[in-house]
Amino acid sequence: MTKIAFIGLGVMGFPMAGHLAAAGHDVTVYNRTAAKAEAWVAKHGGAAASTPRAAAAEAQMVFTCVGNDDDLRGVVLGDDGAFAGMGQGTMLIDHTTASAEVARELAAMGTGQGVAFIDAPVSGGQAGAENGALTVMCGGERDSFEHARPVIDAFARAVTLMGPVGAGQLTKMVNQICIAGLLQGLAEGMNFGQRAGLDMEKVIDVIGKGAAQSWQMDNRATTMCEGKFEFGFAVDWMRKDLGICLAEANNNGARLPITALVDQLYGQVQARGGQRWDTSSLMQLLIKD
Ligand SMILES: NC(=O)c1ccc[n+]([C@@H]2O[C@H](COP(=O)([O-])OP(=O)(O)OC[C@H]3O[C@@H](n4cnc5c(N)ncnc54)[C@H](OP(=O)(O)O)[C@@H]3O)[C@@H](O)[C@H]2O)c1
Repeated sequence: MTKIAFIGLGVMGFPMAGHLAAAGHDVTVYNRTAAKAEAWVAKHGGAAASTPRAAAAEAQMVFTCVGNDDDLRGVVLGDDGAFAGMGQGTMLIDHTTASAEVARELAAMGTGQGVAFIDAPVSGGQAGAENGALTVMCGGERDSFEHARPVIDAFARAVTLMGPVGAGQLTKMVNQICIAGLLQGLAEGMNFGQRAGLDMEKVIDVIGKGAAQSWQMDNRATTMCEGKFEFGFAVDWMRKDLGICLAEANNNGARLPITALVDQLYGQVQARGGQRWDTSSLMQLLIKD
């Protein structure tokens, strides 16, 4: 049993922390909106703290899962931040999808006080978090990773060390870059088929068994054709992630012409009120008025 603090009980963090408690760990939670922390304790036991620092004070491992780089700095740094409560030999594991830069920044600060850092963004969405079946991409020192892995296993189906600090976030960027272009292709294909008067259920069934098959086709093509976009990862989050990818590409010289275009298209979806629609809503831009 490990003494754990979990900071950030959103769509992802709430069930992830729940799996840690169910695995027998001693979990103290913190959430900015206290009602969610109270709801979590009512469901899973454990304790709620009033600041990240207080949650982290006794913890051997501190988990974070908040929105973006600044949110992460907000819960880790400063007088009430997690680092202020953490002692020598403890570890911070961050599941936020954030930049590689903030991962390196926090890792360097942690080293100064004997705190190890692992960037550990996840893939698998809300369902993956609820079912304890996330894919976790980690960056950090191997010893720290080996120590954390059995604990992370509570909510994961795969936990992989990708390289030094930042490598987890860089891997997640590859994931998002691959998804962005694919979704636009899928939207164009589905819209083309509809305008051609094809039976799209049949089309999806047939081409879904061939080279066009993808997770997005299996899980989103039918709902896209129905104009339904309420199935998970939101456009606002995707734009945040693509912004991180485009900034990183500026650093490493990669060219991301399609990713940049799709980012702009998501901007149009947002302008139509689709901030919380799921990422397959690129289709909405192609539908006849
Ligand atoms: N949802 C998905 O399908 C999915 C999939 C893969 C990765 N991710 C990534 O996982 C992370 C969390 O996503 P989510 O869907 O769980 O988001 P969410 O439901 O919006 O939850 C965000 C959490 O962060 C907290 N938070 C945000 N800003 C904060 C701040 N400045 N100070 C303190 N707490 C703050 C929120 O507290 P409040 O409750 O007070 O707002 C909430 O607990 C994001 O980086 C996202 O990109 C999400």
